[in-house]
Amino acid sequence: MTLRACLSAAAFSTIAAASLAACSSSSSSSDGGDDPLTFAQAIEPLVQEKCQSCHREGGIAPFALVTYEDVRAMGEAAKGKVERREMPPWGAFDDPTCTVNHSFRDDLTLTDEQIDLFVRWVDRGMPLGNPAKRPPARTFAATGLVDKTASYQLPAPYAVTPGKDDIRCFPIDPGFAEDTWIGGSNVVPGDPRVVHHVIVYVDPKRQGVEKAAGTGSYPCFGGPDVQDPSLLLAWAPGVPPTTYGEEAGLKIPKGAHLVMQVHYHPGYETVNDQTSIELKTLSYKPGYVAQVILAGNAETADGVIKLLPGPNDPPSGPAFIIPSNVKGHTESMELVIPEKIGDITVPDLGVYAVGAHMHWAGVDMKIEVERKAPQGAQPAKECLLGTPKYDFNWQRAYQYDAPLDQLPTVGPGDKLRFTCTYDNTTGNRHVQRAMSEMRMSSPPEIKLGETTLDEMCLGVLVTVRRASLLD
Ligand code: HEC
Repeated sequence: MTLRACLSAAAFSTIAAASLAACSSSSSSSDGGDDPLTFAQAIEPLVQEKCQSCHREGGIAPFALVTYEDVRAMGEAAKGKVERREMPPWGAFDDPTCTVNHSFRDDLTLTDEQIDLFVRWVDRGMPLGNPAKRPPARTFAATGLVDKTASYQLPAPYAVTPGKDDIRCFPIDPGFAEDTWIGGSNVVPGDPRVVHHVIVYVDPKRQGVEKAAGTGSYPCFGGPDVQDPSLLLAWAPGVPPTTYGEEAGLKIPKGAHLVMQVHYHPGYETVNDQTSIELKTLSYKPGYVAQVILAGNAETADGVIKLLPGPNDPPSGPAFIIPSNVKGHTESMELVIPEKIGDITVPDLGVYAVGAHMHWAGVDMKIEVERKAPQGAQPAKECLLGTPKYDFNWQRAYQYDAPLDQLPTVGPGDKLRFTCTYDNTTGNRHVQRAMSEMRMSSPPEIKLGETTLDEMCLGVLVTVRRASLLD
């Protein structure tokens, strides 16, 4: 009897488990036939859905996972990556400390069942199965921002030479003579082999140009190092274009420049990169205003954002200090959203997308809200994001899969709490690498700061609110 027939029989059986076990042992010696645990029936659909957006000809991953031979050749390596949830790269998961009430758009996470399926398939010798059962090849729509109105490329190629990671800022003048609403944005990496992530800031005072004088760029590990920057876009490989639909837009003040921060991860040879960004400008004022808020990085217990007491604090009180050789160290901080800013009553904000930003020692960041006056179906306490697979190399914003008027909200009087967990030991491969680059023999004590072996605990909240006459 084949396993497939067995499964349907099992559905009617009160001793399903026993009959299944009997069936699978009888079919494991077959050549596949109708056995569902084969490439044709179980694995190819999974790989199409969860891997091929990057692992295909022209994709951003270094090899394809398209043909049976492709997947078979990488099978053992892929098994490890999949088991450790390192592939597909997606840092946001529920765990006992944080369950997110909404699903995320384009979620790449594999379920426990899918992981188990993949692992068992590899352990079974990766059978192809019945070729007639293979799904049709998956096709991919053109990449990029489909309805872009402008794109800006680095004016000259930038040489990325073998060696350390290079985090560079490039000023860009978008030429906006008027305040301009942006409805969508995207990054097109010039050479996908070396572009690890890109963050685009608005530089209202046009200070980036001076910093880049002469060479067209400047090093900028922690941020663009200009006054009053705001965030336009964060991009990592595989992240689809950001779009706010027709209803929302992000405003860039007239005359502002942009600063594109690119994290280059060099290869073995020098390559020339000429990355570009794509924007869709709106020809009207949208009904919702999008705004990216960065919050966190508290250094003391008495700022607007308060550092809370935590492990390894000195007797003098809360301090952002991550001791050497400590795993599981946390820093947490709290922000009470003000009722008013100046004369303006702070409105409720819908949270459109959330992200975490730490450096190499960061392993998990949690963002929670405690509402002062929960409205409608909103719970009094809610976890907005947990990233137990945080990886500096795969930072991204996670977008909730919900209409604008059903997003979780944060409003005046609400408390936002950020909890960051660090692993400052050689067991953290990123710390290990940074140490060897800096020729250190043990992990340093880490404080809040901008450079490689400093840390951050910064939440990214992409918010939307109804537009008013003042916007
Ligand atoms: C969002 C894009 C993306 C998706 C989706 C993705 N990968 Fe990857 N993968 C990459 C990139 C880029 C690399 C190379 C850089 C790296 O290892 O971080 C990579 C590397 C790998 C490697 C090699 C790791 C090594 O040690 O060299 C394996 C194996 C792998 N991926 C398997 C998978 C499998 C299996 C899936 C689906 C279940 C998947 N990936 C989904 C982008 C992706």
